[in-house]
Order: sequence, then C-alpha cells, then structure tokens
Amino acid sequence: LHVAVLMGGWSAEREVSLTSGRGVAAALRSLGHRVTEIDMDRDVAARLAAARPDLVFNALHGSPGEDGTVQGMLDLMGVAYTHSGLATSVIAIDKQLTKNELVPHGIRMPGGRIVASDSLYAEDPLPRPYVLKPVNEGSSVGVAIVTEGGNYGYPIGRDTEGPWRHFDALLAEPFIPGRELTVAVLGDAALAVTELKPKSGFYDYDSKYTDGLTVHVCPAEIPAAIAEAAMAMALKAHRVLGCRGTSRSDFRWDEARGEAGLYLLEVNTQPGMTPLSLVPEQARHVGLTYEALVQRIVDDALD
Ligand code: DAL
Ligand code: MG
Repeated sequence: LHVAVLMGGWSAEREVSLTSGRGVAAALRSLGHRVTEIDMDRDVAARLAAARPDLVFNALHGSPGEDGTVQGMLDLMGVAYTHSGLATSVIAIDKQLTKNELVPHGIRMPGGRIVASDSLYAEDPLPRPYVLKPVNEGSSVGVAIVTEGGNYGYPIGRDTEGPWRHFDALLAEPFIPGRELTVAVLGDAALAVTELKPKSGFYDYDSKYTDGLTVHVCPAEIPAAIAEAAMAMALKAHRVLGCRGTSRSDFRWDEARGEAGLYLLEVNTQPGMTPLSLVPEQARHVGLTYEALVQRIVDDALD
C-alpha cells in the first residue's frame, strides 16, 4: 500500500504527533508499505491530492487532526483514513460532549461544568479539590488541580500567569482521589489495564513524555473486578461513540469506594504512538509488536 502519514500540525501536541508519526512511518516501511510523511500545514489537501495515497494514517493529536476537521476533509476527498470518523471525533475531542453522550449509557464520569476562565480570578467554581481542564486539549495541556493547600498549575484567585489565560472557558470537575488507570481498545477488544504512577504525583505532560518520570504497571495490580469493570467501560465507550481502529479510555479509581469509585475521564480517539505511549505498551502485553499494531489499525481502516 501507499500510505500517507499525517503528523505534526499546529496543535499544542505537535511534538507528540511528530514522534507518533515517525514511529508509525518506520513501522509501515518495515511492513513493506510505501510511505509519504506529511507534516500537516494549510496546504494538506493539495499535498494529498498530489501524493494520491491508498490510505491516510492519521497520526495527528489535538485540533484539527483529532476534532473531525481533517476527517471531514478526507471524507470529502474520498480518501480512506485510519482511526475514528468525523462525528465520533467531534464528540470525543470535547470532554463535555463526551459526557453528554456516555453518561446516559450508564458510564460513570465525574460531574462538572463549563466555567469562564475570567471568573476563576474571583471564585472557585466547585468545592476544592477540583480539576480545571480545557475541553478539547490532550496530553494534560492546560490541566490544573486546585487543592485546599495549594494549586497545581493555576493559582486561583490571583492575577498570575498560567495556562488558563490561553482558554476562554474551562471544564471544572471534582477531583477524584486515588489511582490513574488507562485501557486501550483495539478493534473489538479491550487490551489491558495499565496503572500510571508518576513520580511527581501528577501525570502531566512531562511525566507522560520524559522517560523515567512515570512507572507504568501493566497489567495493573488491582482487583480483577475493577480491571474487568474498567475494560468493560472502555469497550462500551468505544462502541457508543462509534470509534474505529483504536481508542484509549482514561480513568481515575477512588480505591476506598470500590467499583463505585471508578470514573471514566475521557476517550482518546487518536492515542499516542510514541515509545512511551500506552496503546503500544498494551498491544505488546497481548503479544502484538508495534508493527503488528500499526498493521491492525491499517486493516481496520480498509475494512
Ligand atoms: N493525547 C495523547 C496523544 C494521548 O491521548 O495519547
Ligand atoms: Mg486526552
């Protein structure tokens, strides 16, 4: 096959996407495919029209590669592509729209509300501790955890510099104490549960992409009932949203509350494919090499 790998772009996750894309491109070549690497810019449609690939492998993260925009362009051009389609992407990129869709299906997610960033100078939107996050960013970009004793990220109530300045509105959610879990879905199956144990206490951008800053425990050392519940929730979320190929659902688990303390936070439709990323790690756990994972994603796109 001739596969165009779309990567880079201009989202806050540009560097992550370049790393994902290079990994995918190398894997596709080793699988015997012809590869055109495209660092996406505004001329992407013209470049794709000139390259005439059989398939686009979407290795973009964030907007516009994960929010339906690129998917809509590819639909219009009649080019097949990997991962989720337009409607799924529009919903899944937005953490509030995702809740609207999944909670009625019985999937437990933290309550929350959208608040104007300006209002945060004056008052807490929720009782502390709570989390503030942009509705449509990835890799923990712009995420803050506001606690009683001190703030991580955004010094609320003070006119200081912070990532919140870049967003007009933020999603405020109660902070779920406990453990950080993630589940990859590939095709029709949840692969495993991984627990993330960041040395800093926060699984933030640096902890995600700097080797050695987070211990990944796969399979997670948690009760079988919790692992099964997380995998069932991830698979259900993947199906309800209509995800294609692969997705990765992120969870918090408040251990003291048993299964009732397990919350799905979000579904990632363009999960990272970097050397430290979690979908490749879980694929390895079930016996799939990185190359085999890439081929599976390609096969799902051509089905
Ligand atoms: N947003 C990053 C790439 C992830 O979910 O893996
Ligand atoms: Mg995400």
